[in-house]
Amino acid sequence: MKKKIRKTKRIKRRVKISNKKAKYLKRKIRSFTRRAKPPAKKLKPLTREVVLILDFGSQYTQLIARRVRENHVFSQIAPYNISAKEIQALSPKGLIISGGPSSVYDKKSPLPDKSIFKLNIPILGICYGLQAIAKTLGGKVKLTQECEYGKAELFIDDNADLFSRLPGNLTCWMSHGDRLTKLPEGFTAIAHTLNTVYAAIANKRRKIYGVQFHPEVAHTQRGSDMLGNFLFKICACSGRWTTQSFIRETVENIKRAVGKARVVCGLSGGVDSSVTALLVHKAIGKNLRCIFIDNGLLRKDEGLQVKKTFKEAMRLNLGCVNAESRFLKKLTGITDPEEKRKLIGNEFIKIFEEKARKFKGVEFLAQGTLYPDVIESIPALGGPSAKIKTHHNVGGLPLHMKLKLIEPLRELFKDEVRAIGKELGLPDTILYRQPFPGPGLAIRIIGEVTTERLRVLREVDKKVAEEIKKAGFYEQVWQSFAVLLPIKSVGVMGDKRTYENVVSIRCVTSVDGMTADWAKLPNELLETLSSRIINEVKGVNRVVYDISSKPPATIEWE
Ligand code: XMP
Repeated sequence: MKKKIRKTKRIKRRVKISNKKAKYLKRKIRSFTRRAKPPAKKLKPLTREVVLILDFGSQYTQLIARRVRENHVFSQIAPYNISAKEIQALSPKGLIISGGPSSVYDKKSPLPDKSIFKLNIPILGICYGLQAIAKTLGGKVKLTQECEYGKAELFIDDNADLFSRLPGNLTCWMSHGDRLTKLPEGFTAIAHTLNTVYAAIANKRRKIYGVQFHPEVAHTQRGSDMLGNFLFKICACSGRWTTQSFIRETVENIKRAVGKARVVCGLSGGVDSSVTALLVHKAIGKNLRCIFIDNGLLRKDEGLQVKKTFKEAMRLNLGCVNAESRFLKKLTGITDPEEKRKLIGNEFIKIFEEKARKFKGVEFLAQGTLYPDVIESIPALGGPSAKIKTHHNVGGLPLHMKLKLIEPLRELFKDEVRAIGKELGLPDTILYRQPFPGPGLAIRIIGEVTTERLRVLREVDKKVAEEIKKAGFYEQVWQSFAVLLPIKSVGVMGDKRTYENVVSIRCVTSVDGMTADWAKLPNELLETLSSRIINEVKGVNRVVYDISSKPPATIEWE
């Protein structure tokens, strides 16, 4: 009995963790258990230097990570309350404490583990990060009347290390209400603005630095050089992380993990799956089997292009499946968007499995998961998780097929994936292709999907792409496409009454697809689009332009 009580107490002690941490752990466990069993052979950790960014909820955290990588130093984002012990295990060359929306003098404000300051690892705090450092080490932060938002002139008082080789005054970008009013012991001011005496502070002996402004944003002049100084002069990084070194290490890692086994990969023709396939192909050649499923819901000539690029030019072991009739049969009579999505997703998995099973010795599935999808951030204010991705086309595959996962892009941002793709010889038409949803044109045909309606939308889509490209907008916008509406309208063509389809053009700007704004296209371009579509596509007599932002609308109509 006593033994039992002791055991219960032990468990209670062990589970005595904060709600936030519990939620984080739960998510982490869930993300692990989502994996197929048995778990993938762990890829060997790469012997490279890393700078860790502690995420306190800043909208710029990912930007900091990218700026560090632009300096050829690998960076990773960690939750703000990562323990000193966990940090030590990763042996980073430096730590960056991000900004965040909190106020350090709030009782519940998130603060880093105090012990991180004893690790002897150089630290740079940005905005809230500076205040969190100051508060933890005995300084004072107060809310003042003079908030600083936007541009400010920065006067550098000490250009020995963080501001080395920089002019004496620069424009910087501020965004804070609170400010540091008393330095912690051992710190000095190394820059100021007209409003802030402590715009940048340093404890050089302990290699702890803080800047009140945001060096990661483009509005701060020479911000990237400041981060470079932190990385090279203060953290002593060597800066050897390049696309070539990434490719070399990843290929070796895949070789080691896969051995003589075989890998399947669903190739969609999008940049993520294409770069994934090329990396795995470079590592194991013909032992990678790519499967391209033409669901009949693709854009004009898309299937042909994928075949030409990957089978003929890149010599990939690619199997193309023409499954148009299977998908269209499933979609007959279906008008509900969610039902469409489900049917298409399930059919995709079924066909993929059928084809993959024919390939003997398959143990792995290669997938193009990107870094923003896997960053383990806990919302610093305890709110709902910032990003929930709902569109995973092959999400059910690994579990279903008991395959181990290979995700070579798991550490990369989209622009880095493009750089790797370029290095691997991927043509620009694929590298800079706009996102295209897995369920394809089916979710851009409102109402029932039929062969005729697909023909109309395909023709319209082609005209939209041609004109948007010609006008130089294709790479400036996030997406530009057409939607076929489930209504007909009356028109007049050559003195004759028409009763034809209406299409809507959707063109949005966005950074990550999570929020978006409708693109303010020039009237002349809209005019050309309208007249070309109505004149050249049989079955359309009206074109409208969608002027809704996301939220409250979404980018796709279904
Ligand atoms: P929404 O319509 O949710 O779309 O604003 C956001 C972004 O996701 C794309 N999207 C998908 N991508 N499979 C995908 O791979 C899908 O099922 C899917 N649905 C939407 C959409 O094109 C936009 O870029």
